[in-house]
Amino acid sequence: MMNNKHTLKIVTLASSLVLPTIAVSGEVEVLHWWTAGGEAKSVAVLKDMMEQQGHSWKDFAVAGGGGESAMTVLKTRAVSGNPPSAAQIKGHDIQEWGNLGFLTTLDDVAKKEKWDSILPSVVTKVMKHKGDYVAVPVNVHRVNWLWANPVVLEKSGATVPTSMDDFFVQAEKIKKAGYIALAHGGQPWQDATIFEAVALDVLGSKDYRKAFVDLNMTVLSGPKMVEVFTKFKRVHDYIDSNSPGRDWNVATSMVINGEAAMQIMGDWAKGEFTAAGKVPGTDYICAPAPGTEGQFTFNIDSFAFFDLGDKSNEQAQKDLARTILTKDFQEIFNLNKGSIPVRLDMDMSKFDQCALDSMATFKSSAKSGDLVPSMAHGLSTTSYAQGAIYDVVTNFFNDKSADPTKAADKLARAVKSAM
Ligand code: GAL
Repeated sequence: MMNNKHTLKIVTLASSLVLPTIAVSGEVEVLHWWTAGGEAKSVAVLKDMMEQQGHSWKDFAVAGGGGESAMTVLKTRAVSGNPPSAAQIKGHDIQEWGNLGFLTTLDDVAKKEKWDSILPSVVTKVMKHKGDYVAVPVNVHRVNWLWANPVVLEKSGATVPTSMDDFFVQAEKIKKAGYIALAHGGQPWQDATIFEAVALDVLGSKDYRKAFVDLNMTVLSGPKMVEVFTKFKRVHDYIDSNSPGRDWNVATSMVINGEAAMQIMGDWAKGEFTAAGKVPGTDYICAPAPGTEGQFTFNIDSFAFFDLGDKSNEQAQKDLARTILTKDFQEIFNLNKGSIPVRLDMDMSKFDQCALDSMATFKSSAKSGDLVPSMAHGLSTTSYAQGAIYDVVTNFFNDKSADPTKAADKLARAVKSAM
């Protein structure tokens, strides 16, 4: 019979040989809506990195750009007591989920990995609930971009528009030359993405913030907002009749294949150009959305982490959180996704000109007051106010006889009832 000493030795030996791998491996179920070409490539990087650490990845993808469907499915799962390990949740939604008591703290990982010092404070604010990290940022997307096909512009005798007024001049030339001027998908979040770009030009950063962050009634219903709606309405003249319901990546492919000249969309669109093997500056142009040079509408993708009943997967959850902010992941993921790394201490030598411009503007706009959160992507206000804005914007855009003055008034009233 073995004495206790021997038993102890064997157990110690066994645990040093076997336990580290067995004890740490677990499963992460991750909800996201990254199903388009560039998006799918990006999320696959995270899956691979988790599998390399011995964990298994249960993919919980819910298609639909902007994530509205994903959020609906997430609510059902969470309410039935079966949330995933992590879910793509952004901006104010993180606070809403935190207030409901669903999220877990990541503070031990955050301390070890020094998140407070590697991340800009504009980002950490969004990731913390009552002072605790409950979410991890993945990237920084710039939303106010214009993507253009240089061949179509040239054939139309058009140039890259530098203001909304110039946009109408150039779009008219493109339309006359027989091309679709603006590739667009008629879905509420895409309508809102164009609307906020027009608002950024017309209102300027200060009033943009007053309208969509402070929800200031005077700005929401004021004469400049009427001008935003007036210009937004004119944009409709330059999209094609097949746009209703079209997915954003299908619209991007119309610019890639030369059917359309331009698209106003966040830089996840660049992920599509990259996945198609296209090079910026040669095959396509990235430029600030008309009239928004020096301004930066930010959209930070992040994963919020749920409090799991099953503790055996907690280590896998922590490894997922840690992996997301490693330099390796930040580089490969963002090269595929079209965004820039959320860490400011990264070597950017592998990134293209669009990403370098984005990084430079991200930094300069933070100083000049031109760094503003995206309303369309849930960074500027609650999901309630955002939903109210979406409704007014989409109904207006799809109604030929809608009146801009009435729309501004409706906008203010809708936001007020959602406050
Ligand atoms: C945004 C998201 C981006 C991109 C886009 C289209 O809301 O932040 O990462 O995926 O939707 O799906």
